[in-house]
Parts: sequence; C-alpha cells; structure tokens
Amino acid sequence: MVSSSKTWLLSLGLVLLCMVRGSNGKVDHNNRVKAVNLGGWLVTEGWMKPSLFDGIPNKDFLDGTQLQLKSIKTGKYLSAESGGGSIIVANRSSSSGWETFRLWRLNECAFHLRVFGKQFVGVDHLNGVVAVSNSPGGSETFEIVRKSGDSKRVRIKAVNGFFLQAKTEEMVTADYAPGNGSGWGDDDPSVFVFNITGKLEGEFQVTNGYGPLKAPQVMREHWRSFIVESDFKFISENGLNAVRIPVGWWIASDPVPPHPFIGGSLATLDNAFLWAKKYGLKIIIDLHAAPGSQNGWEHSGSRDGTQEWGQTDNTIHQTVAVIEFLTSRYAQSPSLYAVELINEPLSPGVSLETVTKYYKAGYAAVRRHSSKAYVIFSNRLGPMEPLELFPFASGLSGSVIDVHYYNLFSEDFKKMSAQQNIDFVYTNRSAQLNLVTTSNGPLTFVGEWVAEWDVKGATKEDYQRFAKAQLDVYGRATFGWAYWALKNVNKHWSLQWKINNGYMKL
Ligand SMILES: *[C@@H]1O[C@H](CO)[C@@H](O)[C@H](O)[C@H]1NC(C)=O
Ligand SMILES: *[C@@H]1O[C@H](CO)[C@@H](O)[C@H](O)[C@H]1NC(C)=O
Ligand SMILES: *[C@@H]1O[C@H](CO)[C@@H](O)[C@H](O)[C@H]1NC(C)=O
Ligand SMILES: *[C@@H]1O[C@H](CO)[C@@H](O)[C@H](O)[C@H]1NC(C)=O
Repeated sequence: MVSSSKTWLLSLGLVLLCMVRGSNGKVDHNNRVKAVNLGGWLVTEGWMKPSLFDGIPNKDFLDGTQLQLKSIKTGKYLSAESGGGSIIVANRSSSSGWETFRLWRLNECAFHLRVFGKQFVGVDHLNGVVAVSNSPGGSETFEIVRKSGDSKRVRIKAVNGFFLQAKTEEMVTADYAPGNGSGWGDDDPSVFVFNITGKLEGEFQVTNGYGPLKAPQVMREHWRSFIVESDFKFISENGLNAVRIPVGWWIASDPVPPHPFIGGSLATLDNAFLWAKKYGLKIIIDLHAAPGSQNGWEHSGSRDGTQEWGQTDNTIHQTVAVIEFLTSRYAQSPSLYAVELINEPLSPGVSLETVTKYYKAGYAAVRRHSSKAYVIFSNRLGPMEPLELFPFASGLSGSVIDVHYYNLFSEDFKKMSAQQNIDFVYTNRSAQLNLVTTSNGPLTFVGEWVAEWDVKGATKEDYQRFAKAQLDVYGRATFGWAYWALKNVNKHWSLQWKINNGYMKL
C-alpha cells in the first residue's frame, strides 16, 4: 500500500514534471539550471589564463594589436589621411582612430597594418605609402624591426627591401636604406616610437601567434588540462546541475578547421558530454564565437576587433550550419539540455532584423534534430530594448532569453560601495529580471554573472553578501543562471576558488 502509493505519487510527479517541462513559460523549480560557464576552455580568453600566451614569439605584436606610431623626426603621429582610402601622413600631434593601426600577423616578423577605414597600408608604384587596398597582398606586407634593447623604437620595412620614412610631415615613403652603423638616432626619418593602445587575446591571437607547428601542441595541452573529468565531479558535488560551454564556429569543421584555428576542440567537447552523463549534469552549448565576429571582442574569435557577422547572408547560413552540426551530433545525449544560438551579438553593428532572421533559422535547425532541447536567444548588448525579441520568441516552445548581469564595465559601478552594489542587485537587477520574466513569454536565463565588482578592499563578508544577493535574485530566473566561470586566474571570477575558499556555497 505504502509502496504502491509512493509509486503512484512518483509517476504523477513525473507526469507533472513532463507537462511543466513541455510547456512554455515554466521549468520545475527544482529543475532550474544552476550552472557554471566553462569559459576560457574551447574559446580562448587570455585574461583568464595569461600563461597560455607565454611561449608566443614576439608576443607584443599579435593580431588585432593596436599600434600608434610617432615619427622621431617630425615628432608627429602617422595617420591614415581621411581615416583611409588615401595617403599616410606624419603630421598629427595627437592620436586617435585615424592614427591607430591594427595588426594582422603573418608570422612573428611580417604584418599587415589595417587603418580606421579598414583598408590596409601598402606601398604604391612610386614608393608612396597609402591605405587603399581592401585585400592585403605583398605590397601590404611589412616587417616591423625593433631596436634591440629599446622596447619602443621600431623601423618598418616594406617588401621592396626599403624602410618607411617620414620625409616630411606630409610625405611618407618606402625608400629608406639605413646606412651601416646607423644609430637609430633622433634625426633618423625611418625611426618610429610605438605605443600599444589596444590588444586582443582570443583564439585567433593564440593560434596564429604560435603558428601552425606549435599551436596544435599548445592548444591540445590546454584543452586536455584546463578542464578535466574531476571538475565535472566537483561541479556535481557542489550544488550545481549544469554547465554552459562556450564553443567557436570552427568546431564544426573539426578536425581541419580554417586557418589559424586548430582541430581537436570537438573531441574535447565529446569528452565533456561523457563526463556530464557520468555525473548527471546538463549541458548548454553556447556558440560564443560566430564567423566574422558578432561583437568584435576577443571572446568571439575576432582577428582585429572588426564586427562583420551578419553583414552578409553567408555568415548567417554558415552559423546556422554550425548549430545544425552541433545539435545533430549531441541530440541523442541525455545531457544536451539547451543550445544557445549566439552569444552577445552587439548592437548597433548587429541589427534586430539580422539577429531575428538568424534566430528563426537557428531555432528551426535545432528543432530538426531535437524537439526537447531548449533554444536560447541571447539579448543583444549595446543599445537595445530588453523585450525586443519577445514578439518572435514568445510563440516558440522551449525558447529562452539570456541576459548577462555584471556590476562592472560601466562608470556607474566604479562609484558604488559594497552595500550599493548589493542594493543595486536587489532593486535594479531584480526589476530588470522581472521585466523580462513574463508568464507567457520565453523563459529567462541569467547566463553570465560573477561575484566580482569594482569595490576596492571589500571584505570576505562583503563578497559573501554580494554573491548571496545575486543568487537570491537570479534564482528567480525561470530557466536558471550560470556563473562566469569555473576557472580563472583572477580568483573572484573562479567559482571553484570561491567554493573552495568559503566565499560561496550553493
Ligand atoms: C596633414 O597632411 C595632409 C596632406 O597634405 C593634409 O591634408 C592635412 O590637412 C594635414 N593635417 C594636419 C593636421 O596638418
Ligand atoms: C654594409 O655592410 C655590408 C656587410 O656588412 C656590406 O656588404 C655593405 O657594402 C655595407 N654597405 C654600406 C653602405 O656601407
Ligand atoms: C604613449 O602613451 C602614453 C600614455 O597614454 C603617452 O603618455 C605617450 O606620450 C604615448 N607615446 C607615444 C609615442 O604615442
Ligand atoms: C537603480 O534603481 C533606482 C530605483 O529605481 C534608481 O533610482 C537608480 O537610478 C538605479 N540605478 C542605476 C545605476 O541605474
């Protein structure tokens, strides 16, 4: 009697659970996602593990590094006149966008230099230095020669064998041959002082930085050691039930992804599925890096910070194919819980129309292989309306909106005390989350947050209260939440460190 009524209750429970899980708008409370992001694993982010870049030769000059170059002789900055499409001059006394050159690295010595208007610096048939080409070739290739023992002085050598010189403020040419014993002196028109004003340390930078011989070894070692089976055990034993795994678009062409990406991330993701099954964890696959880059940040696999995803239908079709590939590969796994179609598309570069078009096609691609995987739509960052995806997402079963809440990256937070941060979570974040949590709309997911802030000198107790506030509030998200991230050299960004040191308990 007792046991049969228990069985009956259990089956009723399961039926209810299935009904709830199947309907749009609710996930059983106990089943909500409490996840951690496995960030910095299959998509590189240098700030999370700087040592990954340690062995790169000439590692100051990676793809996307922004250089400003001041002529020693004129005392003025090199500049792409009009921002590009014209000549290079050396007559600017202050530096900004037109005076900034973004590197494309060919190898540790040879580079292209991209200007504000996206053209590449090159040498014309009269040895004049211009920025007119949109597709860099030999004339757009330069060697950057550093003065030994001086971290800031460089000469730039063109393929004609001569060096760039600022002949006058308004005439920059590639026809200088420094004499033997030339001393890099202050009157030498071929000497420039450089400043680095921006850097990217993502997957493109690390793989292209090491180059085709060394990169496979370095990346495979990283994938093998950064996240291991015992981490899945740790996650399952510490109150979490899921992982969100950022992946890059190149994973779909494993084992031979396009240059400079390295094969092997797919086999690593396969391992994650095996471990998730063993430890009873759900997996959210998150396409973090889309072809062309959806936001220009290093974590989108960008080469030089330009945002080109969605500007052609081709990038959209290619991305849908990646989603289709991943869903079909893992649809039969009990661990595949959700597919996030793209992470943090940035407005206004990615328009609402573009992202909606992609989300429709991506949703259909997931549904061709899985009727039950949730499909997560990341809200755009930048100028946008938090409910802008609702008209389209509300009608789709198993749809989820992802919002990211960091008390960082804005002047507002720089001035806040610990208590003000905590109050902000309980009032403002709570209001923001309420706004997107509706009874008949998509489920809500706080897919990234961290118990780190701009507060200086916070105590352990401050940190504990800040984490608790966020858990209280984000615990109301109807789909769930995911901490960024499991591991990070910056300890407050590491959930593993937080748990092991008593800063957080779930
Ligand atoms: C720099 O030189 C260019 C080309 O002669 C000229 O058009 C421009 O006005 C100059 N700019 C400054 C700030 O002198
Ligand atoms: C510079 O030195 C190289 C070899 O050291 C020699 O072949 C060349 O003629 C010299 N050039 C000049 C301009 O002195
Ligand atoms: C480099 O940047 C620093 C800090 O912004 C500035 O003081 C310095 O003048 C710059 N030097 C050059 C050569 O641009
Ligand atoms: C947070 O919410 C309060 C109350 O609605 C509001 O006065 C304040 O401006 C908000 N703070 C920020 C930084 O948006």
